[in-house]
Amino acid sequence: MTSHAPHDVAREPNPEPKLSMKALKNFIPFAAVLCLGGVALGEDTPMEKEMGVMNTAYKALKKSINDPAQKAENLKLIADIKKTTESTAKMEPKMAADQGAKKAEFLAKYKAEMAEFGKAVDALEAAVKGGDTAAAAAAYAKLGELKKKGHEEFKKD
Ligand code: HEM
Repeated sequence: MTSHAPHDVAREPNPEPKLSMKALKNFIPFAAVLCLGGVALGEDTPMEKEMGVMNTAYKALKKSINDPAQKAENLKLIADIKKTTESTAKMEPKMAADQGAKKAEFLAKYKAEMAEFGKAVDALEAAVKGGDTAAAAAAYAKLGELKKKGHEEFKKD
């Protein structure tokens, strides 16, 4: 009858710690998923996202670039690379923030190399349009070289 009175509740062993432990145990995997999700999603800069789009097109192109029958598909993938080249050229790599007084110089160099990369993409497009498979393969390889160089110079690990 008085079981609901506050003093009775106070005399019972406090269930509070037990409940908290259970809640905590349930929360740990949930928190772990949140943390991993944060690392995977939260760390992406706008530039990394655009580079990701470029990467998808670049990798797809590897499989079809030597096949003149896939000209239309190849040109579409090249258009994706062109678009992301233009957008990323206007962005600042994360590394720019660490350059101090040399930031302007760093960004000028970055823009110049992006412009060079853009020219290589144009050469690739022209080769594919003209059905020149050998020139297309060479231009595709050039993209890979410029990517490597660009990442070495401007990409923070
Ligand atoms: C075929 C060409 C290229 C591909 C497929 C490509 C791919 C990628 C990918 C997938 C990332 C994201 C990596 C991550 O999430 O950590 C990235 C980042 C980056 N790339 Fe490229 N990339 C290419 C060309 C270039 C060029 C030519 C440059 C510079 C001249 C460049 C500069 C960078 C920079 C600076 C980052 C880091 C982004 C940031 O600082 O926020 N990339 N690239």
